[in-house]
Amino acid sequence: MTQDPTPHHEAPAPPATGRIDIHSHVLPGIDDGCATVAESLDSVRALIDHGYVGTVCTPHCWPTCYPANTPRHIALWTQALQQEIDKAGLDYRLWAGAELRFFPDVIPWMQTHGVPTLAGSRYVLCDFWDREWPDFADPAFDWLLAGGYTPILAHPERTATATGYEQRLDHWAARGVLLQGNLQCFTGAAGRRPDELVRRYMDQGRYTLLALDMHRPDSLESRLGGIAIASQEYGADTVETMIRERVRELLWPDA
Ligand SMILES: [Fe+2]
Repeated sequence: MTQDPTPHHEAPAPPATGRIDIHSHVLPGIDDGCATVAESLDSVRALIDHGYVGTVCTPHCWPTCYPANTPRHIALWTQALQQEIDKAGLDYRLWAGAELRFFPDVIPWMQTHGVPTLAGSRYVLCDFWDREWPDFADPAFDWLLAGGYTPILAHPERTATATGYEQRLDHWAARGVLLQGNLQCFTGAAGRRPDELVRRYMDQGRYTLLALDMHRPDSLESRLGGIAIASQEYGADTVETMIRERVRELLWPDA
C-alpha cells in the first residue's frame, strides 16, 4: 500500500509560451546544485534571458548522499525559493519535483516518503548510475508503472551500462517509460560517449523530453549552449517542442 505523506499542493499551470526546464538542481544548498540563494537567483536570471519561464526543481532524492531530500522537504524548499524569486522581482515559476536515484531500497523509501513526482503530475524523473543494469531498477520501474506513475529515465546517454543497454531501453519504452536527454551532452562537455549517444538516441527517436539538468551558474551557459547545437542539427522546431509543448502536454494536460 503506497503511503503518500506529501500534501497535494496546487501546481499552477505555466504561462502558455516559453521554455520550461524539467530537470534542475536550482534549489540552493541541498545537493550538488546551486550552493546559495544568490546562485539560484543568478541562474534564474540567466534562464529568463534564454526564454525560460519556469523550472521543475529536481534535486537528487538519494538517501545515501542526501537523506533530507524527501518530497515534503522539496515542496517546502521550492516554496521558499519561489518567495526569493518573487522578492527579487523576477517573473519566474517553480514547481517541486525530484531526480529519484534508484537504489536497493527505493520502493520502501517511496512507501515511507511518497513518490516524488514532477509538479504534482504522475511523472517521476529517475536515474541510476551502475556499470551494469542494476537488479533493483526493473522492480522500481514495475512498481511505479503498477501505481499509475510514468517513470522518465534521466539522461540515458550519460548512464549507459556496459552491456544490453539499448535492449533494456527498448523493453521499458514498450512498457511506457520515457527518456529525457541532457542538452549539455550535445556540446561534448559531458564526454565523448554521451556526445555520441545523445545523437544516436535523437536519431532513433528515443527522447520525449530534453532538459538542462542545470547545477551551478558556472556551467549553465554551456548547458544552454546545447540548445543551439541541437537546434542546428535537428531543427529548432524539434528541440523547442521537447522543452516547451511536450512539457506542457505531459505535466499540465488540462491547461
Ligand atoms: Fe540531475
